[in-house]
Amino acid sequence: MTDVLLLHGGVGSDSTINPKLDGFASEAFNGDSLDSAVMAVSLMEDDESFNAGTGSVMRIDGSIQMDASVMVPGKFGAVISIERVRNPIIVAREVMEKSPHVIIAGDGATRFARMMGHQDYDPSTEKARMRLQKVLEELKGHPSDEERSRLFMLSISREAHDTVGAVARIGGMFAAAVSTGGSSPMMRGRVGDCPIPGSGIFAGENGAVVATGIGEEIIRRHLCFSIYSRIGKEPLQKIMDEEISKFGAIAVGAIAVSRDEFAHSANKDMATGFHLR
Ligand code: GLY
Repeated sequence: MTDVLLLHGGVGSDSTINPKLDGFASEAFNGDSLDSAVMAVSLMEDDESFNAGTGSVMRIDGSIQMDASVMVPGKFGAVISIERVRNPIIVAREVMEKSPHVIIAGDGATRFARMMGHQDYDPSTEKARMRLQKVLEELKGHPSDEERSRLFMLSISREAHDTVGAVARIGGMFAAAVSTGGSSPMMRGRVGDCPIPGSGIFAGENGAVVATGIGEEIIRRHLCFSIYSRIGKEPLQKIMDEEISKFGAIAVGAIAVSRDEFAHSANKDMATGFHLR
C-alpha cells in the first residue's frame, strides 16, 4: 500500500496552481500522517493566496476569526473563531494533544494559543481589506436585519469559499487537517464546517476526509461523514462524485483517502496537490 498525502486549496481555487500544491505536499511529507497533514495545512496558512491563516477573509466588523481542526481515528482537536495567531492548525493539534478538551472557542482559543507560545500575529492582508470594502458597499442601503440576511445568503451562494485541507495515509494510519478564515460575507461569531467533526472533517479506521465550500450547507448534510460511511462499499471516486453532486450549484469540494484509494471531487475548479511514496 502506497503512502499518500493529498491536499486542496479550496473550492474555487485555480487548478493551474496544482504544481505549487504538489510542491507543498512533497515538502510536508515528513514524519507520520498527522505531522504531514498539519505541515501541509500550515504551508497553505502561510501563503496569503489562500483563505486560511495569513490571507483569511474578514468578518463584516473587520475582524479575522479563524477555524481549524485535526482528526485521527478516535481523536479530534479544534479551535473556533481564534484571532491573531499565525497557524490555527498547530493550535488545533495542541488542543487535541496538550489540552483536556477537544474544542476551544473564541477568546479562550486565543488565550490557549498564547499559553502554548504562539505570538500575537496579524493575519490581515490588503486583499482581505479590499474584499471587505466590497461587501460593505453591497450591504449599504439594506438596513433591516431581514434584508441584510437575505443579501448574506445571496452573496454566500456566489462567493468562493477557499478553506484549505489535507488528508494522509502514512504507514497505514490516517489523519485529516483543515483550516479556514471562513466565508465572505459573514458575521462575527459565525462558525463554518471546519471545526465540526463529520461535517468539514472526519478520520477513522477506514479513511480520512476533509471538505471545502459553503459551511452552512456542509454542516446540514454532514458531508465528510456521508462520504466516510460509504468507504469500502463502492469506488471512492464514485462515492465522492455522488455526494458532491447532491449540493447542486452550491460550491463544495472534498478530498479523501481510504485504505487503497485516494480521490478528490468538487463542483467548481479546485486546486489539489499530492505526494506518494
Ligand atoms: N468551509 C469554510 C466555511 O464555510 O467556513
